[in-house]
Amino acid sequence: MDPYIEGNPVAPWPVSDLAPDLIAVTHGHYDHLGDAGAIAKNRGSLVIAIPEVARYLNERGAQAEGMDIGGSFRVRDVVIRMTQAVHSAGITREDTVLCGGCPAGFVVDDKIRVYHAGDTALFSDMRLIGDLYRPDVALLPIGDRYTMGPREAAIATSWIRPQVVIPMHYNTWPTIKQDPSEFRYIVETLCDTEVIIMDAGETIEL
Ligand code: NI
Repeated sequence: MDPYIEGNPVAPWPVSDLAPDLIAVTHGHYDHLGDAGAIAKNRGSLVIAIPEVARYLNERGAQAEGMDIGGSFRVRDVVIRMTQAVHSAGITREDTVLCGGCPAGFVVDDKIRVYHAGDTALFSDMRLIGDLYRPDVALLPIGDRYTMGPREAAIATSWIRPQVVIPMHYNTWPTIKQDPSEFRYIVETLCDTEVIIMDAGETIEL
């Protein structure tokens, strides 16, 4: 998801370490589209994204497939569904901004179900995502300013009701500085979901 490595002040590994089969891009902002095109070109990965972002990548020599909100994409036994996100989505290129279609999130169904919300505000249909897909794990932005803050993300958690929630999209820059323990505290007052706070580069097995 959203491999933003080059220029990312907290990315712990070089982009050359990555060779995924599939890259899912939530939207065209540079800190999400990131190195997807370069990795896809150099390592033969397939990218899935909203059609405007997929076309942008195809025109630059990367293999990308378009999909849209509400639809699913199957790779072997893994089903990935694209969900709505409330955010902006332009593709910034040097001195211009290209149309990036709509922002999105993904629900990945691979034995366990993981909902990656992308960059988003809190929206009430997160309840529907919880009811329809019953994600085991949710990854929710808490950085504020460009997305939900800790309080809104905690409310989202109580609506989605995953077993585990992992906060993301914070402490990359001063503008999205957050204390994730504040998020954990609010979640614990609202529901039984376990909050797992991860460091950049850390791996967990679920
Ligand atoms: Ni964004």
